[in-house]
Amino acid sequence: MCGIVGYTGKESVTDQLLDALELLEYRGYDSAGLATLNGETGKVKLRKCAGRVKDLRKICRNDKKISTCGIGHTRWATHGGVSDENAHPHRSGDVLLVHNGIIENYEELKDHFMLHKDLKSQTDTEVVAAVLNRFYQGNPHEAICRTIKYLKGTFALVVMFSDQPDILYAIRNVSPIVAAYNGDGTMLASDVVALGAAAEKYMVVPEYMILELHKDEIKLFDLDGKQCEPEFMDIDWDTTRGGKGSYPFYMEKEIMEQPDALKATMESRIVEGKIDLTADAIPDEFLRDCNRICVIACGTAMHAGLVAKVLVQSKFNMHMNVEYASEFMYGNPVLDEKTLVLAISQSGETIDTLEALKYARRQGAKSVAIINVKGSSIARESDYVMYTAAGPEIAVASTKAYTTQLVALFLLVGRMAKVRGVFDEAAEKEYLENLVEAPAKMLEVLEQKNEIHKIAREMLDAKDAFMIGRGLDYSILLEGALKLKEVSYIHTEAYASGELKHGTIALITENTPVVATVTQTNLKDKELSNIREVQSRGASVVLFVKESFDLADAEYADVFALPAMADEFMVFPASVALQLLAYYVSMDKGLDVDKPRNLAKVVTVE
Ligand code: F6R
Repeated sequence: MCGIVGYTGKESVTDQLLDALELLEYRGYDSAGLATLNGETGKVKLRKCAGRVKDLRKICRNDKKISTCGIGHTRWATHGGVSDENAHPHRSGDVLLVHNGIIENYEELKDHFMLHKDLKSQTDTEVVAAVLNRFYQGNPHEAICRTIKYLKGTFALVVMFSDQPDILYAIRNVSPIVAAYNGDGTMLASDVVALGAAAEKYMVVPEYMILELHKDEIKLFDLDGKQCEPEFMDIDWDTTRGGKGSYPFYMEKEIMEQPDALKATMESRIVEGKIDLTADAIPDEFLRDCNRICVIACGTAMHAGLVAKVLVQSKFNMHMNVEYASEFMYGNPVLDEKTLVLAISQSGETIDTLEALKYARRQGAKSVAIINVKGSSIARESDYVMYTAAGPEIAVASTKAYTTQLVALFLLVGRMAKVRGVFDEAAEKEYLENLVEAPAKMLEVLEQKNEIHKIAREMLDAKDAFMIGRGLDYSILLEGALKLKEVSYIHTEAYASGELKHGTIALITENTPVVATVTQTNLKDKELSNIREVQSRGASVVLFVKESFDLADAEYADVFALPAMADEFMVFPASVALQLLAYYVSMDKGLDVDKPRNLAKVVTVE
């Protein structure tokens, strides 16, 4: 949460920062700000406001853009409301600071350093700026080292000292910072997407090390002042530079990219018609010998885990739990060295998932992380990593990250089935034949997006909606409902359709929209009879049904035929249909599809 950028180089910094902040806006969009330092005159300019980066751009419009060093921030409010004063950067004396994370003991620090009368905002960040300024006597490293000894919580801090021209300093605990050479200078950011088009390699700043960013050099020091060699990795996300293309919103672009993203996630892992996880280096013995699986994840990523649970429990005689990462520890989970913990995360930075993973590892469990962002914290914390090849996902609502997570999970489960003797060669071949068809089946749905748009138009006035199904359909709908509620603000509940009559059916009245998926052969008859129960109470039912299923003579408000695949693979065409439904409802309601209210893409607070 919160996006941070910093640049020092030859070019005017204001435009560099504004462009980078726009790319990072999905991390938080309550307010934005930047501070620049003119190396020749020593003059600092601080601009910040509640609102979006476009509002900040307006404020900066008439500035003389001559400074070549600066820091910027886009905020997701935690401490203190959304206001100009609470926007970052914060200034205290010579110190200008941007921060991502939470300083848990900021009230204690205010008392300890008697800062109350110095502070203008309600933020934890300004307290850190004031402490840094107390310790600053011309030696940045000394001030940083003395300050961080007092900090409890998570932080990515980027500091500009007004008497240190052309240099930025950064340090972090948990919250990420990456840095790169970007042609005409050096840049740092919370996320690789903002490092600039010229950057080819990047480094992840290690925790509790001091980064110094100079115009032409990136230096790294440990807390004893010893200089260390930064480790650089390739940036291979070309789509970072593509922007929205001809699409009105990133969400639509990312929905449309799914067939390619799925293929890219499978590509290196299917060799000569067999699942091959060699590149992921996950040992077969580990997949063969584990006796329990436990998924830890949040939101959409957790829903991907629920789909995997259906797969696993249908193939192996094995328990699988899927837990909200934020609740994991409180349930005192049973974990040992035979437990395979699967941490699923697009960003690889979700703090709840990261903390749950650390807890599981302390109990002796082995872990595989399914991650989209290379080098992210969860990837580095896990024993093994399977990277998804979704490319950067900018829209806050996750789409292609989810379906590529599903592909990674299908591959992992398929490999487990092979090494545990559940699949012989023929079964593995058939499973893979189905999986490689998923991108084409999704494309068939995408080609009918106008049909789904028509269905969406019928839902624009709904205040509440339900999504009902059983088994795998229920897992698919949990994700469909999350998508609809987060981008359209329609209160939507996914319900196991057999459970409705135990209470919730009381909420079904004349014209309540009910979305149902019917994709599983063994569940079809029961699902259709649950649909008739809500229709009898006046519900208006939209049905997404596997095209080969016979619906007899029943009538529905709308029916969309999903391209047929073997039952367990129907999650692919069904998910893309539900994503499109949510997208069109949001767009037609005139909402900011990519940046739904109150949300941020990367959730780095507990
Ligand atoms: C919803 C959505 C969120 C994320 C969740 C976990 O569309 O994107 O529910 O799935 O915040 O984020 P990651 O996958 O980055 O750990």
